[in-house]
Amino acid sequence: MSTFSAPKGTYDLIPPDSSVFLAVREAISTPLKRAGYGYIETPGFEAVELFARGVGESTDIVTKEMYTLTTKGGDELALRPEGTASVLRAALEANLHKLGNLPVKLWYSGSYYRYERPQKGRYRHFSQVGAEALGTEDPALDAELIILAFDAYRSLGLRNFRLLLNSLGDKECRPVYRAALQEFLRALDLDEETRRRVEINPLRVLDDKREAVQKQLVGAPMMRDHLCEACKSYHEQVRELLTAAGVAFEDDPKLVRGLDYYTRTTFEFVHDGLGSQSAVGGGGRYDGLSEMIGGPALPSVGWALGVDRTVLALKAEGIELELPAHTDVFAVPLGEEARRALFSLVTELRRQGVATDFAYGGKGLKNAMKSANRSGARFAVVAGERDLAEGTVQLKDLESGEQSAVALDALVDTVRERLSDSPST
Ligand code: HAM
Repeated sequence: MSTFSAPKGTYDLIPPDSSVFLAVREAISTPLKRAGYGYIETPGFEAVELFARGVGESTDIVTKEMYTLTTKGGDELALRPEGTASVLRAALEANLHKLGNLPVKLWYSGSYYRYERPQKGRYRHFSQVGAEALGTEDPALDAELIILAFDAYRSLGLRNFRLLLNSLGDKECRPVYRAALQEFLRALDLDEETRRRVEINPLRVLDDKREAVQKQLVGAPMMRDHLCEACKSYHEQVRELLTAAGVAFEDDPKLVRGLDYYTRTTFEFVHDGLGSQSAVGGGGRYDGLSEMIGGPALPSVGWALGVDRTVLALKAEGIELELPAHTDVFAVPLGEEARRALFSLVTELRRQGVATDFAYGGKGLKNAMKSANRSGARFAVVAGERDLAEGTVQLKDLESGEQSAVALDALVDTVRERLSDSPST
């Protein structure tokens, strides 16, 4: 161990677990690619103001959780706490919305940073795969995104997750509801901070986990009873499309989410095996965000799924992903001459698409064979001076233990044939 360890609230992704993370990212992005989403990558940091305006001045994310810094040039930057504001900023900057092909569909994958109190499933550096569909107001688009997330979780074998669904209304009906909620909340017995929240962001109070607060919220006005006709009909269409696609959901009138930009459809995927940090993904419609960051009206919808929590959900359900073996062939040279010959062979195998590794460091046969077994390779190729003099190598099947001499110049073809005859698991 060195003098240093990973900073609090972070952890390193190392083999073999890291391959599960890669597989989860792949599983989430595959349905997106099939649905016309293009890959976007934005910087790890942005102007603080982008998140303050986009995510919301009064959210925990902006007031308490951002990693901010002032550059030597005086710019106020923040490590990105989420992806939506950045993706929208980038799309507007590149004028993607003006290319005439709406919605602009984008997906992304990366690291995000929030200065939160670390616990299982909650980290200061975490990983998301996200998707945003910009510039179109259509309940089918909301449904598409939810179905794609649902299918991604299913493709990983997950079963014990639930989809919570709500509508937060729009700029017509939300202010009326907000005022009604505020009136109700002002009459309650709440602490100083919650009272402040009632004035700035009353919907967040519905999300307060404390029992003393929850008890008083019985009978609170609910957004769903205040939706305007347009929002009601929009939400009904999303629900119908989900049902037709076989995606079960629970209506959750208290689901408000921790970011301020949402309008209409909001949703969260929760997993029942994760304890308090149960949200494995979430998202919704954000029809006003573009204008909030200085852009044109651009109604949009999206989600982000947490990779770390999805991996924890897999563990909770005891799911072992079938990951392809890293190494098909492990080459073991006996002696200096064999080392040169086998090293060339390794390069050739790799160039022919066979995953191959080599016993580096002049190991003896016993140790080298141990490495071969540990690598998970299907075959070991062993050769000494005598084999090479005869123009052969020994090809050992590490599963069956069978070994046979194969002509050096036929090895690549033989290995490829035998691998394709019985693909290793
Ligand atoms: P979010 O709900 O803040 O939404 O984050 C999405 C997911 O990221 C969460 O459900 C969770 O799985 C994961 N996550 C968030 N914070 C942490 C953490 N501290 N540690 C581990 N995992 C975490 C957003 O970020 C929105 N940008 C989603 C969106 C996209 N809405 C519209 N488009």
